[in-house]
Amino acid sequence: MIQKYVFGTPFETEAVIAVLPAAQGLPAYGTIALESGFSFSYTMAEDDIVYGLGEANRGINKRGYCYISNCTDDPEHLEDKRSFYGAHNFLILAGQDAHRSGDIQAVPTDQTAPGSKKNFGLFIDYPGKLTFDIGYTRQDLLTISCAETDLYLYVIDGESPYDIVKQFRQIIGRSYIPPMFAFGYGQSRWGYRDQKDLRQVADGYRKNHLPIDMIYMDIDYMDRYKDFTVSPERFDDFKAFVREMKEHDIHLIPIIDAGIKIEPGDPVYEEGLQKGFFCQKEDGTPFVAAVWPGYTHFTDFLDKDARAWFGSNYRFLTDMGIEGFWNDMNEPAIFYTPEGAENVKALMQRALDQEDLDADWDAGQEEKVTVGQLQAAFKGLANHPADYASFYHKVNGRLIRHDKVHNLYGYNMTRAAGEAFKTISPHKRILLFSRSSYIGMHRYGGIWMGDNKSWWSHLLLNIKMLPSLNMCGFLYTGADLGGFGADTTRDLLLRWLALGVFTPLMRNHSAFGTREQECYQFEKLEDFRHVLSVRYRLIPYLYSEYMKAALDNDLYFKPLAFVYPDDKMALQVEDQLMLGNESMIAPIYTQNACGRYVYLPEEMKFIKFLPDGTLSEEILDKGHHYVEIALNEVPLFIRKGCCIPVAKAAESVAALDREHLELLGYEGAPYRLYEDDGICTDPQTQGRYRILR
Ligand code: GLC
Repeated sequence: MIQKYVFGTPFETEAVIAVLPAAQGLPAYGTIALESGFSFSYTMAEDDIVYGLGEANRGINKRGYCYISNCTDDPEHLEDKRSFYGAHNFLILAGQDAHRSGDIQAVPTDQTAPGSKKNFGLFIDYPGKLTFDIGYTRQDLLTISCAETDLYLYVIDGESPYDIVKQFRQIIGRSYIPPMFAFGYGQSRWGYRDQKDLRQVADGYRKNHLPIDMIYMDIDYMDRYKDFTVSPERFDDFKAFVREMKEHDIHLIPIIDAGIKIEPGDPVYEEGLQKGFFCQKEDGTPFVAAVWPGYTHFTDFLDKDARAWFGSNYRFLTDMGIEGFWNDMNEPAIFYTPEGAENVKALMQRALDQEDLDADWDAGQEEKVTVGQLQAAFKGLANHPADYASFYHKVNGRLIRHDKVHNLYGYNMTRAAGEAFKTISPHKRILLFSRSSYIGMHRYGGIWMGDNKSWWSHLLLNIKMLPSLNMCGFLYTGADLGGFGADTTRDLLLRWLALGVFTPLMRNHSAFGTREQECYQFEKLEDFRHVLSVRYRLIPYLYSEYMKAALDNDLYFKPLAFVYPDDKMALQVEDQLMLGNESMIAPIYTQNACGRYVYLPEEMKFIKFLPDGTLSEEILDKGHHYVEIALNEVPLFIRKGCCIPVAKAAESVAALDREHLELLGYEGAPYRLYEDDGICTDPQTQGRYRILR
């Protein structure tokens, strides 16, 4: 059961698409205070688990830390970070016994007694900054708070956390479905400059028989980083180049950034300006921010006409044969604003005019400029809160200050594209994913998890984020495999790819200036060939499970606790995930490991895809095991009594033989395969199920 509570006059984010009546009174759970902003607090029992929050730091169980929904471009995903690129305000409080579905009813009470055995979900539909203190200030207290009192609060009662997720997913609408080629492997790097570089990557893969379906084009393909342009110096005939790549079964996927370069005479800039489609400052002039192209204006994606205009511009690239995009810098990221730079300049001047700096780090209001002040001013140039509070959106004739709706920006940029594709490509799916997001955007595209680092800890963080993202509707997702920032290593990349084999988005991406990390850059590339081939062998299964999850508002990745609610040990497992209905993954995420411990909540078949193309299969009992997994092996566990289909290895999705599949797992077990042509925009009617035995 879902109750919708209305506080004040909420902004219509359109995250929820179901029409629900407003509930009377106050929610049965927790305490609400409205004196200084909004606050919801609830006393957690010692064993209660908190799931959700999508793209967020730390564990699958979010207890013990404080998270802030405030879409932020910050590539340093250290453990103390509270905000990432997305804002996903959905969580589930799961009383341990309440994990059991069916036998325990949630008993709402007006107070929050420790030791309670209930579970409920909360979605706080509020587009500004929102804080989730989940036992951080006080270990038993959950507090959700924000500065204003205009919001929708959805409270979901359910038999189990899993049931709550499914109810929530029902009201936010079906998750985005990409074309099937998007389940292939993709290579990306910020630094491929021109057709020569891109051809080299295509050759590196195809000549070495390393499977691939996509090469991503980062900002350098554009004419001086201007959206909806292709550099004429770097591509002599872009349309022909796109065609040439497609002849090799390679889709080129260009990036689109949020900011439009200020360049008089440029048609996109001129049109946006003339039609008033850019965000404005209080004085009515367009807001200016420095991003990759230099000074830019931000399209007002909350204005539906501006959104339609921006979306229509994608046609420039689809007309040249492009079938997929990644939307970036849409928190929106601000390197600095002219106003911010002026302030720092004035402070610097004052500092230079002094004989020395004040060595006091705390002083902010002193006569003398302090070392701390200067350092903070430089650091604060990027993504400064004052800048986000200095421009406005036009929504139905009203001006809304950006910081109050900040978390909707990336969502609406991607929505602009998604809505436009309905006209541009009504019958064929277009690949689309974004960096920034809010719940609701999951209907238009997927997300990647932003700028991680080539660190083992980020491989683990990646695992933990997957089920939480699925709970919030983001099914098409994955991280920059191998790590974006910092230099990767062969072993890290191989282990990360072995996780990527199972994530719907499987993309290797790295930053400008880092070590090149295409698979063919490393010795013994047959190991990479093998890991990528395993992905292709599994595509019929992964696609089928993805489609079932999308069409049934279900999860593709689940925590073990969702499947084995009565197993106390399973509740604690955070480094293994259930995939679809038949399998479990347990990736290796530590350096030098030759294997790992796994916990099996039931008997399972342990499969290893071996580098010679054969398999090892072993039945393991319920319980703890140490399993050996070499760097060039891909492990997978199949649930008791289940089977999964596998195809023969192929070098592209188009070359996959999806007709002749083998079954892997328990003998005699059937598998219900979902199939469609992988491209039609109405899979529900076109798709069909086939029982494989
Ligand atoms: C941002 C993106 C990254 C991209 C870079 C250059 O940092 O997150 O993926 O490579 O910008 O466009």
